[in-house]
Amino acid sequence: MNWMEERLSRLQRWEGYQHSVESREGVQSKLDANENWHLPRAEIREALSTSAEHLDPRSYPDLADTNLAKEVSAQIGVPSDSVIPCAGADQAIDLICQAFLGPGDNAVIVSPTFSMYRLRAIIAGAECACVQMLPDLGLPVAEILRRGGPGGVAFICSPNNPTGNQFNRADVEQVLDSFQGLVVLDEAYVEFASYSLSRRVRQRRNLAVLRTFSKAYGMAGLRLGYIVANEEWAPEFLAKVQYPFPVSGVAAAMAIAMLKDRSRIEQWVGKVRNERVWLTRRLRAIPGIVVVDSEANFLMASLPVDSGEAHKRLLAAGVSTRKLGDVLDFPNCLRITVGTRRMNKQLLEGLRGIVAK
Ligand SMILES: Cc1ncc(COP(=O)(O)O)c(C=O)c1O
Repeated sequence: MNWMEERLSRLQRWEGYQHSVESREGVQSKLDANENWHLPRAEIREALSTSAEHLDPRSYPDLADTNLAKEVSAQIGVPSDSVIPCAGADQAIDLICQAFLGPGDNAVIVSPTFSMYRLRAIIAGAECACVQMLPDLGLPVAEILRRGGPGGVAFICSPNNPTGNQFNRADVEQVLDSFQGLVVLDEAYVEFASYSLSRRVRQRRNLAVLRTFSKAYGMAGLRLGYIVANEEWAPEFLAKVQYPFPVSGVAAAMAIAMLKDRSRIEQWVGKVRNERVWLTRRLRAIPGIVVVDSEANFLMASLPVDSGEAHKRLLAAGVSTRKLGDVLDFPNCLRITVGTRRMNKQLLEGLRGIVAK
């Protein structure tokens, strides 16, 4: 096979990211991608247009990444040199795979989890070792260390997508103490959880924390996130691996405004947490439904009926969810974003009808 044939056949073998639904026609409650519907649309649109007002789109966004890094640094308590702005946490995953992984390297992925780690590690040419979470959803520390060997990249998502639990802090610390390679801790949902390890990068060269504006900050459409890493190597990563103009000026300006308005974000996050309690209770009241305790803005629910069928019927009723199937010891799972009260009621009504039949 010549080179072109071989590369095309490799391209064919790679898997793509699977979206939750094929069409969103007729969807009134979009609960499949963990967006934040609790931010009032008018308020967030106003923040967007105010941010755009002072920008000249003819110009490259020269200072967008620097200004964003400064504001993030002030908010989360790390040096601004530790912050690497990215076009979403998705791009962060990709860049880390490109920079740190290659043929012969190992990506140790605590599973089941977000699919992007595996998809991008494979494109980088690495071998993937998927290490199952413990039956009680704990972090499989010994197995991570065993599979890592002399190096590689370990991916830990905490709170984990799709189970929703945040791993025990001491267990994550133990991996950081002993893992020989880089530990990527994906904290995409950390604002809804109990603790963040972002600041640990100050003492740890082998930790990269991923954060995003897509979830708590309600900015999924603007594609903005960042890596937090030790200041010894983060500036070089930003200068050499990241693109010259990595984030849009509008996205950065809006994120800066949101970061400055901390009480507003806290209020919205509080709403999601309260609604999470309400929805968990209501779901558990439906006979046969098991819900895992969540520290994120979504819930994983195990149903007493086929999840593919339930997903389809909910969609027909205007509610889109993420179909998971069997996850660890939980059969027939769906992942459901904590929506607004109206959305959650529509979901509950749909599910009650499906489970009753
Ligand atoms: C665990 C996790 N990491 C990263 C991402 C990607 O986030 P972003 O929108 O910032 O690319 C997601 C999106 O759903 C996610 O669930």
